[in-house]
Amino acid sequence: MKHNTVIITGGNAGIGKAIAIEMARLNWHVVIVSRSSERGHAALEEIKIAGDSPNVSLEIGDLGTLDRTMQLAESLTQKYSRLKVLINNAGIWPTRKKINLNGLEEAFMVNHMAPFILSAMLFPLLRANAPARIINVNAGLYVFGRFDLNRTPMGADFNPLRTYMNTKLCNVLFTRRFARAIQDSGVTINANHPGVIRTGLGESGLSGRIMHRTIKRFWKSPQAGAVAPVWLATDPQLENTNGQFFDLKRERPYAANARNEILMESLYEYGWIKSKLRDFYI
Ligand SMILES: NC(=O)c1ccc[n+]([C@@H]2O[C@H](COP(=O)([O-])OP(=O)(O)OC[C@H]3O[C@@H](n4cnc5c(N)ncnc54)[C@H](OP(=O)(O)O)[C@@H]3O)[C@@H](O)[C@H]2O)c1
Repeated sequence: MKHNTVIITGGNAGIGKAIAIEMARLNWHVVIVSRSSERGHAALEEIKIAGDSPNVSLEIGDLGTLDRTMQLAESLTQKYSRLKVLINNAGIWPTRKKINLNGLEEAFMVNHMAPFILSAMLFPLLRANAPARIINVNAGLYVFGRFDLNRTPMGADFNPLRTYMNTKLCNVLFTRRFARAIQDSGVTINANHPGVIRTGLGESGLSGRIMHRTIKRFWKSPQAGAVAPVWLATDPQLENTNGQFFDLKRERPYAANARNEILMESLYEYGWIKSKLRDFYI
């Protein structure tokens, strides 16, 4: 029997791994993307056992630069012709400013540009397998985000608390704009807050580790964080739902910062220019 394919970035840890286990249990061919071969192989074995399925594959890929993300998208396109669902789950909460080879701040790259590139480059394959879906694992904290085209991409406004929220706002603006671009294509894109979940998020660096681990003790398990993304990926009733934000399973109106049309257009344009992709993909 042929299985439909779901690709999950950040599938080697936290919420992404829990999503992978659940999708494997539901009989999907699961492809996890991990930047580390060691962590990826360990997760692969765990997902096969916990998901009770041999149909789990590993793709090594780093979302930290434009070129590597594009290489990853090309490799995925060549290998997984039955792609039905892309879950842009990988994300970081940076505690220190890091600028990549493209001159982009790390969280802007991983939380916004990588989902932009993967969605655009995998779109033709998704459309060929329509109905198909893209899920952006976002965060309710986006409502506190601010975006400044001249500062946020290169980290000039970097802040260990706000950069996470700012880059999640970028991902929400992208979700809304991309949904318009692909309307009526048979492919949908939606964003989701998966809950407040006990994972490794924000634990790079000692202070981040101490702060996050202290407050996280009472948070929910990664399995709880997988519930809403899996539902968005699979529920038949959501087949035509496009461009929405779900707080867990509840659809929410966008906050004012995500309804700024000028900001949305300028960020969208910036994504195409910076990635040097062409919008012929859509
Ligand atoms: N935890 C929460 O309470 C919460 C709340 C709202 C939203 N979210 C969102 O949920 C998503 C998953 O986060 P999580 O909580 O499960 O955190 P996590 O345990 O830290 O997992 C993050 C995943 O992203 C991967 N990743 C980070 N940078 C990458 C890169 N450059 N290339 C490829 N993969 C990369 C990580 O890989 P490595 O293992 O190699 O680092 C890891 O697999 C994120 O988008 C996050 O913003 C989480």
